[in-house]
Amino acid sequence: MDAKELLATYVLSYLKGKKVIGIGTGRTVRKLIEVLSGDDSIRKDSLFIASSIDTEIELSKYGFNVISPLSGIQPLVYIDSFDLVTKNGIMIKGGGGALLREKVLAYFSEYRIFIGEFSKLKDIKIIDVPVEVISISLNYVKKELEKRGFNVKVREGTGKIGPIISDNGNAILDVSVKDEDLCKFDKTVKEIPAVIETGVFCKELYDKIILADEQGKIEE
Ligand code: 5RP
Repeated sequence: MDAKELLATYVLSYLKGKKVIGIGTGRTVRKLIEVLSGDDSIRKDSLFIASSIDTEIELSKYGFNVISPLSGIQPLVYIDSFDLVTKNGIMIKGGGGALLREKVLAYFSEYRIFIGEFSKLKDIKIIDVPVEVISISLNYVKKELEKRGFNVKVREGTGKIGPIISDNGNAILDVSVKDEDLCKFDKTVKEIPAVIETGVFCKELYDKIILADEQGKIEE
């Protein structure tokens, strides 16, 4: 069994019986949705709040009940993956361009679980952090960050000219940040008016990280 499938099967017990489930975005989440589709009670009895259009489409394909965050109903549990987790337990998300709604759901959910392969546990000194910014201000923010000494790349869309546009209509910058400065950066960068959110998920945004590998090893 591959690690994504193993993780999806493993977290079933955390999701079973939960009336409202918030759910992230990406390949791990796609695998999770596929696995969940085999569980009649979750498919019939749970309501899902999706963190992206992609995930909403995927949930609808399998006949899950999807509700809008506009309902104001807060998930009892939020489940998602991440691009990397540092040795200090800080996650980076937004590799797929979804980070804002993911952070909103993680913040407003009662219990937050993140799943990923051991290979996502990285010990690197400089990390690319996705930063979601108001599109028209893209170059102002880029210049401001460069002035502050950061290396900044505009995230390009695949197969089209120009920056990638998020589900929220915003652009994404990838900013190189020192490992030890991630949580400080997350707070200070939002002092720039056009910056909406970053893909840094510090400890207050999760309750559990579960890691697995192809050999069947699982660690919480
Ligand atoms: C999307 C995300 C994803 O959680 C992250 O990119 C991991 O994705 P995958 O499961 O495909 O490895 O933050 O923006």
